[in-house]
Amino acid sequence: MTNWLPTIVAGDGPYYARLADAIETAVDDGVLAPGARLPPQRNLAFDLGVTIGTIGRAYALLRERGLVSGEVGRGTYILDQGRGQADRPSLAFSSFGGTRLTDAPPGKLRMDTTAAPDLGQDAVVGPLFAEIARENPLEIASYSRTHLNSWLEAGVRWLGRNGWRPQPDDMVPTHGAHAAALAVIAAMTAPGDRVAFETLTYSQISRSARLIGRRTVSMEMDEHGLVPDDFERVCAQQHPKLAFLMPAGHNPTLAILPEDRRRQIADIARRYNVWLIEDEVYGGTTGDPTPLLASLAPERTFVVGGLSKSVAAGVRGGWVACPPNVAQRLKVTHKLTTGGLSFILAEAGARLVLSGAAAELRDRVTGEIAAREGLARQILAEHEFTSHPHLPFLWLKLPSPWLSGTFKAAAARDNVLIDDEDEFKADRLERSFHRVRIAFSSVDRAAIVAGFRRVGSLLESGAAGYDGEV
Ligand SMILES: Cc1ncc(COP(=O)(O)O)c(C=O)c1O
Repeated sequence: MTNWLPTIVAGDGPYYARLADAIETAVDDGVLAPGARLPPQRNLAFDLGVTIGTIGRAYALLRERGLVSGEVGRGTYILDQGRGQADRPSLAFSSFGGTRLTDAPPGKLRMDTTAAPDLGQDAVVGPLFAEIARENPLEIASYSRTHLNSWLEAGVRWLGRNGWRPQPDDMVPTHGAHAAALAVIAAMTAPGDRVAFETLTYSQISRSARLIGRRTVSMEMDEHGLVPDDFERVCAQQHPKLAFLMPAGHNPTLAILPEDRRRQIADIARRYNVWLIEDEVYGGTTGDPTPLLASLAPERTFVVGGLSKSVAAGVRGGWVACPPNVAQRLKVTHKLTTGGLSFILAEAGARLVLSGAAAELRDRVTGEIAAREGLARQILAEHEFTSHPHLPFLWLKLPSPWLSGTFKAAAARDNVLIDDEDEFKADRLERSFHRVRIAFSSVDRAAIVAGFRRVGSLLESGAAGYDGEV
């Protein structure tokens, strides 16, 4: 391959980025096949009349894009998961990330779930299901083929906030917020496209994106959320088609994105033509008054939300509010990725919202979360963590020498299931945060208090007492 020379397109970007783009185009066009070796940096620098540093930066960018292998001194090779192969990603690639067991072992305290706490929702949901079944025998026996206006109206009511009000025509009812986000990714991007996530994210969605052949890239964040400059860098260098964000309450860091950053992000997304998913599952609970991204970039923002965190996760109610003219595409994609809406769940979700029962339950859930968060602040007062009175988890800093995974294993040995930081990494990262997420919305308040105490004594006993058994 040493004779091959890339065709560099003239443009505004730095030379190394245009060189990386040219190599990527050659991969896309099949000129460079998986396994092909790129020219040694020194030779290419000579042939192109640039410094070896410029070639090094281009190759580093290609490594970051996941297109080439790169062990220094061993040559740079085109990888198999290049764009041409992205419609059949390797299993290991798809399943990367995620450290939570799919089936929680019995007898453990679940402090790894953020679903709404059990406050007797069954007393509302049970009779509602019976009523729906009685009134709609045909729909219960059948597939759901229409989206009732009441379902759209419920989405408008549930998602509309802070002066932003979606149109019923742009609303698509979904099988929860996760299914909504996945349908957006499937509808608006193609296999091999890049989807951008914050370095720490709700990683089940980044893993779902990889499962359907999208490549994920990560963007830097700080205590306020996504850093706009890094979003711009990623847009310029990696050309993502879509970015997934949680501005109203970030899981797991609890950051709430300030208005000036939202404005910058809307502007960058517009300049680089990137779709945005604004995950609002916690929007209604934090009551964050900042304008939604959807009101700053309505032509490109999909707002996803639902009932799981604030009302009842078992009902799986969700909605996506689309930019104009794409709702039909979303409906089809949601049907293809989920098999279609369940009539009883969609109808129950809509009735809960339109009757006001959902808002009432949300108030009770928010009150319970606030009480538990107050207890966490008392019990763990000696320890460093971030929390919010209306978010059902805290982001706990571990004292040295604890590592995130080791602490999670030690807590599991004490019968408490929590999440380590790797659960939230959008990609393999070199960086460590030395934090764990402690969620506190499951079971009853007394059990959660006992869980906080167990976490506290583990922190106080120090890592020396932990011998690695689980
Ligand atoms: C940020 C975020 N978005 C979406 C979801 C999934 O929501 P749903 O249960 O409505 O699918 C979760 C669940 O943990 C979440 O934390």
